[in-house]
Formats: sequence, C-alpha cells, structure tokens
Amino acid sequence: MKEIEKKAIEVLENNWKDGFSIPCEGLYPFQWKWDSGFIAIGLAYFDMPKAKEEISTLLDAQWENGFIPHIVFHNESDSYFPGPDYHSSNLHPEASKKYKSTGMTQPPVLGFVLQELYRISKDKKDILQFIKTVIDKVYDNHNYFYKNRDPQDEGLVYIYHNWESGTDNSPLWDDIFKTMNSPEYTFERRDTTHVDASQRPSKREYDHYLHIIEIAKEHNYNDQKIAELSPFLVQDPLFNAMLIKSNQSLIELYKLIDNNEEKVNQLKNWQTKSIETFNKKLFDEELGAYVHYDLRNEKPLKYISSSSFSPLFANIPSKERAKVLVKTMMYKFGNDNQYLCASFDPTSELYNPKKYWRGPVWINLNWLLYKGLKQYGFNDISQRIKNDSITLIEKFGFYEYFDARKEQSETGYGGNNFSWSAALIIDMINDD
Ligand code: DGY
Repeated sequence: MKEIEKKAIEVLENNWKDGFSIPCEGLYPFQWKWDSGFIAIGLAYFDMPKAKEEISTLLDAQWENGFIPHIVFHNESDSYFPGPDYHSSNLHPEASKKYKSTGMTQPPVLGFVLQELYRISKDKKDILQFIKTVIDKVYDNHNYFYKNRDPQDEGLVYIYHNWESGTDNSPLWDDIFKTMNSPEYTFERRDTTHVDASQRPSKREYDHYLHIIEIAKEHNYNDQKIAELSPFLVQDPLFNAMLIKSNQSLIELYKLIDNNEEKVNQLKNWQTKSIETFNKKLFDEELGAYVHYDLRNEKPLKYISSSSFSPLFANIPSKERAKVLVKTMMYKFGNDNQYLCASFDPTSELYNPKKYWRGPVWINLNWLLYKGLKQYGFNDISQRIKNDSITLIEKFGFYEYFDARKEQSETGYGGNNFSWSAALIIDMINDD
C-alpha cells in the first residue's frame, strides 16, 4: 500500500467518532451530510462496517418528510457557530425528535454513494442486504426534493441557502447578497479561531447567511413559505447534478434488489424531466458552460465555477456538449501553470486563490470531475485531475483546499487532516 493511502486511512481513523465522522477537528466538530457521503466511500476500502454506520447514522437523523439536514449535532461543542440552538430546526413539525440539526440540507449524494459502496464491496450479498435497509430512505429524500423544492414543476430543485450548495462563499452568490438588506448581527464566529480569517467568508457574508436562516425560522422552516419569501432561491447545477446522478444510482440499485417497479418508474420520470430542463435552462451557449439560475430574481448567474462542469459526472450533457464544456474548462482553468481544478473562474476578477470557495482547488469537486471526464472518455484530462489531486496532498497534506497556482502554492488551506480529502484520494488511487 502506498504511503499516501496509509496516511489517508490514519486521517479517517482519527476523525471517526461514535458512529460517524467529523470533517475535521475543531473547525467542523459534527456530522455534515455531503461530507459523510464522500467519507463513506473512503471508509469502504478498509472498514466497510464503518462505511455503513456512517450512512445509517446520517439517515437516522432524517425527518418525517424525507428531508436530511446538512449538519447533525450529535455532540455538544462550543467550537462551532452557529450551533443547534441558533438553528432551532425543531421549529419544523416534522423535524427529527431524536437529533438536533440544522433546517437546511446539502447536495444529495447518498444515492451514488450507495452505488459506490456496492462497487467497492468484496461481499456483494452483504452490501445488497445493507442497501435494502436504507434505499427507501434515500428515495424518500428525493421525493421530498421533487415535491417541495420545485415550485414551477420543472424537474429542477432549488436551494434556499448558500450553505445548501456546499460551495458556501462562492462569488456566484455575490449578486444575490447585493439584493438583500441584511441587518448587521452581533455574534461570535468560531471558524476564524481555527483558520486564518483571510481564508474564510467575511463578517458581512455571515450577516447574509444568518439573515436567510432568520427568515426561514420565522416561518418554522416551512418549504412553501421559504419558496415564497427567501431572498436566496437558486437552481444549482452541482446540487441538481448530484440529484440526477443519485436518481440513476437508485434505479440501478433497485433493479439489483427487488426491482420496486413503482419507485423505479417514478425515478425514471424524474430523470427524463430533470435532464431535459437542466440542459435547456442551465446551459449557457455564450459561456460554453452550465450556470446557476437565480429563481428569486428570475435570471441566470452568468459565472463559471467548477460546479459548471459537474453535470459530466451525472451524464447530463450530450457528447457534443461535453466537448464544449471541456474546451471551456481547459481554456479557463487548465493552463500548465495551474493545478486542476480551481473552484472559480481563474480569469475572473472575483477569483481569490486562497479563500475557501472563491478559487481554491477542492478534492471532492476534483473527484466528481475525474469520474465525469473519464466516463466521457477524456482520459488525459481526468488523469491530470487525479495526478494533480495526489500531488497537492503529497506536497502539502490532507488539507481542505489548495491554491491552484503552481508557483505560488506553498501550503494547503482551511482545515488540515480533512476527511473527504483523505477518503476520495483513497478512491482515486484505487480506481484505474
Ligand atoms: C461552515 O460552517 O463553513 C460550513 O461549511 C457550513 O456548512
């Protein structure tokens, strides 16, 4: 086993708590939804029982309406703000009675994560047995999205908070924040006691983040009210691509277990509609890339980020369109003096190579792009993404994010010993 893989296993073992993994010590002391999914993929290589437990624990916190929260606060910790009392998700009548959580979600990764566990497992019978016990919960989560998050019945679901996107402080959201008249709140940040403030969102951005939550809380996290009133309402190509990929995985997994015809048909209907609208509404011919759509202000957000290429992972673009996407990606992000793949357009004046989601390379997006490019046969570029990811981690360690500029890149940024960086490197190393 390679040294990097041994170290990755160590990171995951250290971040394992009682039944779930934290993304990293200090900065993120609870269970995060999309982190958990990615982490389970890494765990599956060396400890399948833990991979299963990671998923079961997350699903145990699912609400009665199928919703899965973005953070499950399993433990007390004063190293994170905003915590469970601030979020007060119990305002929602169907919130979990067992766990404290947030009242927002994160990208729906669980469908494709289950399929990855199936692929990785050496004991297919055992893993199918496990999948049988959880698959309906993941289906219910998709059902929640299509029922509650698609007010115009288009097949595209919205996110109501930038934290739901996972790409928290991307410049993508700047225009929306400019439309919001958020109060100046008084609160004590904890993230900047763990990580240099220059690598984290600003105080003013946090005002906006809290303002959106305040509005949701005022209406007890009611989905209809949020759709009517939230100043932030976005159709995100990354989020919807994850949902579409997970739909496909559920279709294939149901066939392997008991072929639940009704659910498979429903999933297929969602798929057809979602993919069609996705291609019609979110592709920007001028930019040669998929873009976000601001549903509140009814306009596309004309920026290119690494999310713009994530539809490759879900097989959404035609072969022709995939070529256009790759051309855009290589032209904007792919210079030889840059590691692939910056999280925001390096040619934009809004690009910041050290600040969280405003430019740095993230291993989870690299993993999605690696898989997506490979699926379409762009083998050289997918290999480059894999090699760049390994180089960054070998040089600097299992950081949360990295400067894409080769010459200026001296260290990693954000949290260190970051779980999904470790987990997904294990997968990339083992995937030829
Ligand atoms: C944070 O606190 O920065 C998290 O990413 C929110 O999910």
